[in-house]
Amino acid sequence: MLKLGILGNGTVGSGVVELVRKNAEYIKRRSGTEVVISKILVKDMDKHINNHNEEIITNNIQDVYSEDVDIVVEAMGGLHPAYEYIKSFLQQKKHVVTANKDVVAKYGRELAVLAEENNVSLRFEASVAGGIPILKPLQECLAGNDIKYLMAILNGTTNFILSKMYNESMKYEEALKIAQQLGFAEANPDSDVLGYDSARKLAILSSISYDEKVDWEDIGVQGITEIDDIDILCAKELNCTIKLLATSIKKEDGIYASVRPVLVPIYGYFGKIESEFNGILLEGDAVGQMFFCGKGAGKLPTASAVLGDIFDVIENKKQRSMLIGNKKAILKSKLSEKAKWLLRIKCQNTEEILSRVKESFKACESFENKDWLQNEAAMVVEAVNEEYIDGVVKELKLLPGVEHIKKLIKVDNI
Ligand code: NAP
Ligand code: HSE
Repeated sequence: MLKLGILGNGTVGSGVVELVRKNAEYIKRRSGTEVVISKILVKDMDKHINNHNEEIITNNIQDVYSEDVDIVVEAMGGLHPAYEYIKSFLQQKKHVVTANKDVVAKYGRELAVLAEENNVSLRFEASVAGGIPILKPLQECLAGNDIKYLMAILNGTTNFILSKMYNESMKYEEALKIAQQLGFAEANPDSDVLGYDSARKLAILSSISYDEKVDWEDIGVQGITEIDDIDILCAKELNCTIKLLATSIKKEDGIYASVRPVLVPIYGYFGKIESEFNGILLEGDAVGQMFFCGKGAGKLPTASAVLGDIFDVIENKKQRSMLIGNKKAILKSKLSEKAKWLLRIKCQNTEEILSRVKESFKACESFENKDWLQNEAAMVVEAVNEEYIDGVVKELKLLPGVEHIKKLIKVDNI
């Protein structure tokens, strides 16, 4: 018999309990051992009164320590005390499976080393892209490849919000509220909407892919809070949609890494990824392009990834420690390649400003006669690199009549 201790009984924790119970027979047949849930840790006991697992629910971590569990599933979220608990269980030679990208992005390497020293496993497939198997394929099946880049939708909440705004003209606040009710959002949804959650996941993926330590705080991050209905209308005019894309590209002199809203074609890889689904496009030198997609958030999809990790622990599969790279990566957040950009310039003198913009870019296509553009010029320009467009934007901002400028990158080939 194998005993599980579950830290957290929210969306993920309760999903793991449900899946373990539902598939108990199958799990026993497949793993050769009965898996039982011994203790579930929560914060506020009052929330769990009349829960059918009441007798094993506790708000005292000592109850979990004294239960002598074999595997601990950490699904509490946040940095503290999750980090301290994981550390302590690894030191007690307990295997740990976690869904917590905050902890993995910050302390992943330290904890992976600690796990190795104690001859136990630390696994965190659920911490990136929910139910999509991506860390294991990167570490195992694709280990023979030099990964050139990763482009991904890594946050279910923001993808859900952007899908609702695009497909149903729903207001941002309403869509966020539904995403929270459905259990997709973080306890503090700022993590989702400001792009930090995507940045943490990109850091984990990139560290594994490039064998260098990518710190999420060094990634250039822009969230979706500034996306409005005019951006959506512009996107529709261009046969595009807007996605929060997390991108990292290996370059000679470092790694370009960014999280930002991007205009993508509606029929491309990412245009079709709706709602809480995530998608990851990567290129390996041997395998070429590969695209992974599936549910990136939610109770059972995430529990699926946790269960996969539990199976691996039971089967005692040895795997190379994740985040093994210790060399700190040099990160760049400005794109050095030629790219197209949507520019929106809030101003009274639109004709005058438009002609100034045309002087600055070889290619410039403006939106003409749109009644939804009030005191605003909007156009797609092509710039040799991001530094160039930022320089032009800085100069334009100084012109009389210019109130506000917004830029969004438009990527055509994905
Ligand atoms: P959640 O619904 O907010 O649940 C958190 C659970 O942890 C609650 O049961 C809470 O107890 C408990 N908890 C929080 N702080 C605690 C503390 N200090 N001591 C004891 N218990 C504590 O969160 P979630 O959505 O399940 O997410 C959990 C983790 O999985 C996070 O790291 C998240 O990023 C990650 N994740 C989530 C999803 C998703 O779709 N939601 C997907 C992938 C990964 P109470 O019930 O008493 O408040
Ligand atoms: N809040 C996260 C998201 C949960 O929306 O993607 C899954 O990691």
